[in-house]
Amino acid sequence: MNKALIEGLVVEWIKEAAQKIKDSFQNELEIDQKSGRNDLVTNMDKETETFFVEKIKEHFPDHRVFGEEGIAEKLEDLAGVVWIIDPIDGTLNFVLQQRDFAISIAIYVDGVGELAYIYDVEREELYTGERGKGAYLNGKKIPPLDKNKTLDDLLLIINQSTLYHYPELRKAISRSRGLRLQGAATLEFMSVATGRAGAYVSRTLQPWDIAAGKIIAGEIGAIVTRMDGTEIDMLTGGTIVVASPKIHEELVQNYLS
Ligand code: IPD
Ligand code: CA
Ligand code: CA
Repeated sequence: MNKALIEGLVVEWIKEAAQKIKDSFQNELEIDQKSGRNDLVTNMDKETETFFVEKIKEHFPDHRVFGEEGIAEKLEDLAGVVWIIDPIDGTLNFVLQQRDFAISIAIYVDGVGELAYIYDVEREELYTGERGKGAYLNGKKIPPLDKNKTLDDLLLIINQSTLYHYPELRKAISRSRGLRLQGAATLEFMSVATGRAGAYVSRTLQPWDIAAGKIIAGEIGAIVTRMDGTEIDMLTGGTIVVASPKIHEELVQNYLS
């Protein structure tokens, strides 16, 4: 796999897709509900996924693509080179606020995360990560997380439904510096990766919500697991805890078991 070639193309495609999404603000969106009124899909989610699938298939016909909107294939395994795409993460924000949404692309080889890209479209912030080579924000290296920080030092990101199902987490919030929510899993991962928050905890994330974030946050020294501390596979949805090591341990041992 020629990583430099992929990197050049992906960055070009992301910028092109982001411009199309921004241009769509002038037009009326076609909006459909998926599982409910807060789970939306727009014509731009579908068009953006189609755009990436076509580009990948044109340049890398033997790579497989796995995406949220079902335009890409549904996978049974992670053999070979697999692209995992969330064309718009934070669709509700995109529809209601036109900000705090992102394009997320990850490349896994035989199940191992190799390359990751998360683009905050409105802020024009591109987070990138490569296994073993660190992570970058708009080309600038993101410093490693401060491993000495504990729950008492930082903010937490936990959504309402997670708090409802895991009420012990309220005690963790009381110990922390407070609660914040952005409403886009990929950007919430990046808040932890850049030290703006100590942890992000969610009970219902899909592989496309976490595939890129896991690589980038991992490069900065964050621990990313299920709530019971077990490894995540990129084929099934489930719970997630992303945090710096001490905070991850505190959450898993004291507030999630
Ligand atoms: C959603 C967002 C949201 C998270 C949901 C995701 P989508 O992704 O990341 O923050 O709480 O679980 O499904 O549907 O906007 O791509
Ligand atoms: Ca999405
Ligand atoms: Ca998503």
